[in-house]
Amino acid sequence: MTDKFRISHIKGAPASGEILCVIDDIVDGTAKEFSFHDGDDIHDLFIQRNGGQVYAYVNICPHAGTPLNMEEGEFTEKSGRYFMCHTHGALFQLEDGLCVAGPCNGAKLQAVDVILKDGNILVV
Ligand code: FES
Repeated sequence: MTDKFRISHIKGAPASGEILCVIDDIVDGTAKEFSFHDGDDIHDLFIQRNGGQVYAYVNICPHAGTPLNMEEGEFTEKSGRYFMCHTHGALFQLEDGLCVAGPCNGAKLQAVDVILKDGNILVV
């Protein structure tokens, strides 16, 4: 079992196995944002691309629950090595969402379950 967030569990969102986007839709070093509405619930997600890798998370900081970014698609600090929450500056590792500095040190971003296959980013 995975504890990752599943897009396919959102009513009206793409089903498991469907293409969410293609990797070339995401400018290298930036993220593409997605917003899915399920009744009154809004699920804001982002997928960061770094070269041939993608990292998908729910766009909620574990510290105070705000979105991480201020500008669309801009989730990392200057070096591009960490996601940074603009609210209080927490830094998160790209590969597992672990906070390594800031007020929620040791907490994690909620990962989203996607698969990169043949250049397509697929819903799980
Ligand atoms: S809300 Fe993100 S660091 Fe405080």
